[in-house]
Amino acid sequence: MRSIIFATGNEGKLREIRQIMADMDVEIRSMKEEGITTEVKEDGTTFEENAIIKAKAIAELTKEIVLADDSGLEIDYLNGEPGVYSARYMGEKTSYEIKNQAILDRLQGVAKEQRTARFVCVIAAVFPDGTVRIARGTIEGYIGEKPAGENGFGYDPIFYVEELGCSTAELTDAQKNKISHRGKALRAMKEMLNENNDCK
Ligand code: IMP
Repeated sequence: MRSIIFATGNEGKLREIRQIMADMDVEIRSMKEEGITTEVKEDGTTFEENAIIKAKAIAELTKEIVLADDSGLEIDYLNGEPGVYSARYMGEKTSYEIKNQAILDRLQGVAKEQRTARFVCVIAAVFPDGTVRIARGTIEGYIGEKPAGENGFGYDPIFYVEELGCSTAELTDAQKNKISHRGKALRAMKEMLNENNDCK
C-alpha cells in the first residue's frame, strides 16, 4: 500500500483526512509517525503559498507524496482579515473568546449584508518528482451578532451559514465535514490523487 504523509501535528485534521480517504488504497501517515519534527515557518502571503511552503519543506525529508494544508477566515468588511493570519490574529496565545469578541466589536453596527465572510482551505500535494497540485475549498457565511454553539474550534461560534440558520459551532463534526472548506478541499484533493494514481 502507498503512503501519503500529511504535514500536520493536528490530530483532528488527521482524523478527518483519514475518514475522507478511507476508501482509497493509501495509508495516511502523520509527521509524528514518520519521525519528522521540523517546524516550518509559514511566511507566505496567500493560503496557496503557505500550503506549498509546508508541503515542499516536508517533501525534502521523504520520498512519499506529501500533503499540507493552510486555512483561515476572510471577512469582507475587514478587507479579508484575518486571512492567512487567522491563527496568529491578536497573538497565537490569545483565546478565541477574546479574538471572536474583538471581531464582533470591529463589526458593531455593520449591517448583515456587509458582514459576509468565508472559511478557506487550501491543500497542496507535492509528488516525489517535484510536481505540485493544489485543491481549494471554501464555505460562504457571515459574521453573526453574537457567538453561538460549543462545537468546532476557532472562529466557528461567530461564523453563521445562511442556509443552515446557525453557526458552524452548532454543527456536529460530521455535519460540518460535509459542507466545510476543509471537507471540500480534501474531497477535491482525493479526486486529483485518484486521477493521478500512478502518483508520479
Ligand atoms: P491552520 O490552517 O492550522 O494554520 O489554521 C488556521 C486558523 O484558521 C485556525 O487556527 C483558525 O483560527 C482558523 N480556522 C481554520 N479553519 C477553521 C474552522 O473550520 N473553524 C474555525 N476556525 C478555523
